[in-house]
Amino acid sequence: MAALFPPWTNTATRIVLGALAVAIAGAIATPILYARTPFATGAGDPLLQPVWFDHRHHVRDDGVDCLYCHEDAERSPYAGVPATERCMGCHAQIWNDSSTLALVRDSAATGRPIRWQRVHSLPDFVYFDHSIHVNRGIGCVSCHGRVDEMAAVYQVHRLSMSWCLDCHRDPAPHLRPRDRITSMTWEAASPAELAELAAQYRPRSLTHCSTCHR
Ligand code: HEC
Ligand code: HEC
Ligand code: HEC
Ligand code: HEC
Ligand code: HEC
Repeated sequence: MAALFPPWTNTATRIVLGALAVAIAGAIATPILYARTPFATGAGDPLLQPVWFDHRHHVRDDGVDCLYCHEDAERSPYAGVPATERCMGCHAQIWNDSSTLALVRDSAATGRPIRWQRVHSLPDFVYFDHSIHVNRGIGCVSCHGRVDEMAAVYQVHRLSMSWCLDCHRDPAPHLRPRDRITSMTWEAASPAELAELAAQYRPRSLTHCSTCHR
């Protein structure tokens, strides 16, 4: 009697089962991996802003300190974006007929604020505070990267829980002197300097859930 299933069907079955296993594994793994890509987390995407404000000109070329425009970072949970008056402090005099600044002049004349798009945004159930970090020796560049080299600000780190915790477990290597908080290029000259900073700030390792979820 001829075999009900000829021998080649064994191979065919293995191939079909193999393909199925790969497809199922892929279906599970793809969204997990996707969720971790910069594409899904938004890291790396510059946004289209109403005015093309370029940090490279203002910070790198003109040497304006971060805190001149984001002064609240030192004393409040929010760094904030500057009001139009801050721009007009310079642009009433310089580049005051440039078309790229038309919307800024408009905002100053009407009192209607410029609607800047948010680049960084944590979920509501996470508590964050700029002033604590800034006053405890963590610099802007540790969390925001080389803003002085960005034509348009984009998110450099994922702002995920594991990213926060990586530093919170052991903040010491990230410390810097208080007067170098806004420097984009400062680096500790030696391990001894870092040890001195650690002795000065004595950073706690804050990993309990209630630190960030309150
Ligand atoms: C002359 C004013 C000015 C200076 C100086 C300045 N910024 Fe900004 N910054 C702005 C404005 C306006 C925005 C909003 C538009 C944008 O996102 O580009 C902004 C946006 C940002 C954002 C994104 C905010 C968000 O929506 O998440 C970060 C981060 C930032 N600045 C960091 C810095 C750092 C770090 C420095 C110093 C190296 C600095 N800025 C210096 C004006 C300034
Ligand atoms: C401390 C002075 C200062 C402040 C404050 C300032 N700017 Fe400027 N801005 C400059 C200078 C100087 C230039 C020319 C930079 C260059 O070409 O290197 C410039 C250039 C620009 C340009 C490009 C103009 C062009 O036509 O190329 C834009 C747009 C601009 N600034 C927007 C803003 C906005 C928006 C703010 C407020 C958030 C602001 N600036 C605050 C000094 C300032
Ligand atoms: C420990 C990490 C960390 C440090 C240090 C830090 N930032 Fe931020 N920054 C964040 C996070 C996280 C957000 C998003 C906050 C949110 O969504 O509530 C943010 C948001 C911002 C924003 C958007 C407006 C706001 O207040 O939410 C600006 C502007 C900004 N940072 C500028 C700065 C500047 C300038 C410095 C240095 C003086 C600085 N940051 C230091 C993590 C940091
Ligand atoms: C590069 C290091 C670093 C990163 C990244 C960082 N932190 Fe911190 N954080 C610190 C240090 C240092 C302190 C102060 C520790 C101390 O008080 O001794 C702190 C303190 C805090 C506090 C204050 C706790 C309190 O009430 O005293 C909160 C809340 C906090 N961080 C939230 C966050 C969140 C949320 C993120 C991620 C979005 C984050 N941090 C990322 C270093 C960091
Ligand atoms: C240093 C700050 C920090 C600490 C400490 C922390 N979290 Fe989070 N947590 C975050 C941030 C930031 C997010 C948002 C992550 C995102 O949007 O991807 C988050 C998200 C979450 C979420 C939402 C699901 C997820 O993974 O996105 C849960 C649940 C959570 N945390 C539970 C905890 C528990 C339980 C602890 C204590 C063991 C804890 N967290 C400690 C910062 C913190």
